Amino acid sequence: MKLLVVGSGGREHTLAWKLAQSPVAQTIYCAPGNAGCSQQGELVELDVEDLTALADFAEDHDVDLTLVGPELPLVMGIAEVFAERGLALYGPSQAAAQVEGSKRFTDELLDKYGISNKKFAVFDDLVSANAYVRQQGAPIVVKADGLAAGKGVKVAQTIEEAERHIEACFVDKTFGEAGEVVVIEECLVGQECSIKVFTDGETVVPMVPSQDYKRIGDGDTGDNTGGMGCYSPVPVLDDETFWYIVDEMITPTVRGLAEEGCPYCGTLYAGCILTPDGPEILEFNCRFGDPESQVVLPRLESDLVEILQATVEGRLDEVDVRWRDQKAVCVVVASGGYPGGYEKGKPITGLEEAEADGAVTVFHAGTAMQDGQLVTSGGRVLGVTALGQTFAEARDRAYQAVGKISFENMYCRSDIALRAVEA
Ligand code: GLY
Repeated sequence: MKLLVVGSGGREHTLAWKLAQSPVAQTIYCAPGNAGCSQQGELVELDVEDLTALADFAEDHDVDLTLVGPELPLVMGIAEVFAERGLALYGPSQAAAQVEGSKRFTDELLDKYGISNKKFAVFDDLVSANAYVRQQGAPIVVKADGLAAGKGVKVAQTIEEAERHIEACFVDKTFGEAGEVVVIEECLVGQECSIKVFTDGETVVPMVPSQDYKRIGDGDTGDNTGGMGCYSPVPVLDDETFWYIVDEMITPTVRGLAEEGCPYCGTLYAGCILTPDGPEILEFNCRFGDPESQVVLPRLESDLVEILQATVEGRLDEVDVRWRDQKAVCVVVASGGYPGGYEKGKPITGLEEAEADGAVTVFHAGTAMQDGQLVTSGGRVLGVTALGQTFAEARDRAYQAVGKISFENMYCRSDIALRAVEA
C-alpha cells in the first residue's frame, strides 16, 4: 500500500514509524514531514493547508490511504476534498472536526446529551462576558471559540487576567475570527490525562491512556508549551474510571455527533480531568496527540494500517486491537528559549548512541537536514521515548538516551514521569 502522512511534527514521525512496521506498507510519503520521517519514507514539500495540492498528490501517486496528523487541515475540510475525489483518508469530516474547531459546539453538544455537568456560558460581546466573569469570580477559564494555535485558552487566576483575555479576543482581535465568540467555563481542579479512541462512527476502540506535561519548567512552572513530555499508562486513572470515560462520555459523544448529522470517523482525543466529583471532559481534539502519540503508538502491538483501513471502511469491529503491557516515557528535547524565541540550525549529535538501547526510539519533531548534517529546525526538536517493565526503568532509559544527545542550547525538563514512578 501507498500511504501519505500529512504533518511535520513528532506525532507525524511517530505515525510514519508505526505505519512503516506494517507488512502491507510499501511506500510512505510525508507532507511535509521532517528529517526523521525521511527514515521511513519520502518527504513531499507540500503545505498542510494546501488541501487541493495534497489531494492532487494523492491522486497522481495512487496513494491508497492518507492519514492526517494536525487539526488544521481537518477543520478546513480535507476529508471532504479527498472524498469528492474518491480518495481514502483517515480523519473526521469538517462538521465532525468542530469538536476541536469550536469550543462552543463541544460544550453545547456535551450539555445537550447530558455528558458533562461543566458550567459554561457563551458570549459575543465584551460587556456581557466581563459581567459574567465578575459574577462568577476567579479562577475561571476563558476560551476563544475557534482554533488559535494553542493560545486561545486562558486559565485565568484573577478576574483581571480573564478580562485581559476577553479583551484580546473582542478588542485586540488577537485570534482573528477564532475569537469572535468566547466560551467561559468553570475552572475544574484535578489531574489531567487523555484518552484517545479509534472510531468509525459506530464502534469505539480506546487507545491506552496517557498524561502529558504542558509547562516548560520542572514542577509544572513557566509558560505553556506544545508538550514537554508524556507517559503511558496513567497510574492515577483506575480501570473503572477509564471505562466510565470511554463508555459514558466518549461513546455517547460519538453517538451524539451521529445524531447531529456529523458522524465521526477517525481518532477522537478526549482531554479529561479527574476531579473530586468524578471525571470531566476538558476538551476534545479531532486527531492523535503530540507528544501523546510518542508514548501511545510504541505500545500498540497491532498493525496500525489495518486499524486505519478498517476504520475508514466502517468495519472497526472486525479488528483485534492489542496493546503491550509495558510503560512508556517520552522526554521532549527542545531548543533553549522555547516556547519563546530560539535559534535554529544547530547541529545535532548522538542519536545513534541514544538508540543503541533497543527499548529507545528517538522521534523527530523540529529537525531538518542541512548539507548532510542533522540540525534543529523548531522549538520542540526530538521526543525520546523508552519502554520498560516499570516506569522507573522506562524513565531511566529515556533520560540516559537524552544524555547522549547534544546540540547547542538543548533543553529538557528533568521531572518527566517522576510522579508515575512515585505513584
Ligand atoms: N498534547 C496535547 C495535544 O496534543 O493537544
